[in-house]
Amino acid sequence: MIKGFIFDLDGVITDTAELHYLAWKKLAEEMDWQFDREVNERLRGVSRMDSINIIKDHNNATVAEDKLIELATMKNIIYVDSLDTMTPDDYLPGAKELLTHLRQEGFKVALGSASKNAPKVLKQLQATGYFDVVGDGSSVSKSKPEPDIFLFGAEKMDLKPEECIVYEDAEAGIDAAKTGGFHSVGIGPKDRVGHANVRFDTMADATLFAVKSHFTELF
Ligand code: BG6
Ligand code: MG
Repeated sequence: MIKGFIFDLDGVITDTAELHYLAWKKLAEEMDWQFDREVNERLRGVSRMDSINIIKDHNNATVAEDKLIELATMKNIIYVDSLDTMTPDDYLPGAKELLTHLRQEGFKVALGSASKNAPKVLKQLQATGYFDVVGDGSSVSKSKPEPDIFLFGAEKMDLKPEECIVYEDAEAGIDAAKTGGFHSVGIGPKDRVGHANVRFDTMADATLFAVKSHFTELF
């Protein structure tokens, strides 16, 4: 029986994926590193330090650990600045409607994001009230594809993984949901989230009705 929902943030509730991309791009330009949207795809759902390591390795660069932390901090400053432009109009189409619907139907709702900036993003969107539990990049130490952030959300909602549906746009996020024993909804193309229990192209397609129709025996 499904009693709760756990949402990834970036690329599911709002399109911060683009702001992350622009911030990494600016850092890469300053470092004279190659960085494009293809490399950026590999950062989806991945923690900040894992992301900088992927970019560094892509450039065959050797960078000391403290310098690497400094670079990740620089990227974060650029990214956090860009969040100031975010408003309650910046939900991905369908996301706010779904969160409202889940509240009306009495489901428990958690955020399960790898981002340490998730509370700020929720504040900018005025979305904090939709969540019973906020799990962010500071809640657990092992990031996706490990299931820890989703297990954290389920435990705080007092639910078992099999009582929750996870919404994710990242390959590593679907891996995490599956490893943790959650039901999963993939948002995005088949080559990224085709391994989810059910996949939709966009959040606008992934309504409560559509998800209930897929998981009929669970509602
Ligand atoms: C994830 C994003 O939600 O959060 C990643 O998909 C990002 O791209 C990660 O690197 C960490 O975010 P932050 O805000 O803690 O640097
Ligand atoms: Mg995401």
